[in-house]
Amino acid sequence: MTEDEQKQAAAEKAVEYIEDGMIVGLGTGSTAAKMVDLVGAKVAAGLKITGVPTSEATAEKARNLGIPVVGLDEVNVIDLTIDGTDEVDPEGRLSKGGGGAHLREKIVAALSDRMIVIAEAKKKVAQLGAFKLPVEVIRFAAPALKPRLEALGCTPTLRLKKDGTSFTTDEGNYIYDCDFGKIDEPEDLALTLSIMPGVVEHGLFIGFADLVLIGNDEGVEVIEIETKQAE
Ligand code: A5P
Repeated sequence: MTEDEQKQAAAEKAVEYIEDGMIVGLGTGSTAAKMVDLVGAKVAAGLKITGVPTSEATAEKARNLGIPVVGLDEVNVIDLTIDGTDEVDPEGRLSKGGGGAHLREKIVAALSDRMIVIAEAKKKVAQLGAFKLPVEVIRFAAPALKPRLEALGCTPTLRLKKDGTSFTTDEGNYIYDCDFGKIDEPEDLALTLSIMPGVVEHGLFIGFADLVLIGNDEGVEVIEIETKQAE
């Protein structure tokens, strides 16, 4: 299967877990977009769900498909969130934020009873870190944070748009893509980044994934994450 077909297969498996009446967190990225398309088709066929989008892009896509969407002012608990990832390790720890939406994605995932992660085979890794870890920072703090991130052992690169100007997130912040090579202690790094003044959110999702669905040449690998650890 092509990577696109693997993403599609994982998305198709994931939507099987959606039940009538659920509040569903809608992830961001190319794999999540396939899931949103499938949810849109199910809604058109009569499924009643409410979506909580994790980005402006997903919100617009969902609305265009006729999926009712709400913000966090209208829901307390989300039944199920389905989202993509940039990397997932054997313990279900994720590196996310390639699309720059990890701040809202993590908030929605944290409010969810269950998180299903969908991805193509290459996202399944033995150790996190080959994908540059996105760290969302307050614009004011960005110049001061660069050397502090370097001191953690990474090479941070300010994310730019195609036109060369700084990429800004839905919340108006900047992103440093941090090349750590390999991340030996994801929990320690997550905590270090979380308490750094000026860092809004990092892309390490630890203790969030309940189920990982990996599309591959054989179909879809279903990986239950046994031990959910708190970040
Ligand atoms: C969005 O910010 C990310 O967290 C995405 O979930 C992640 O980058 C996966 O995206 P793709 O499905 O496009 O690879």
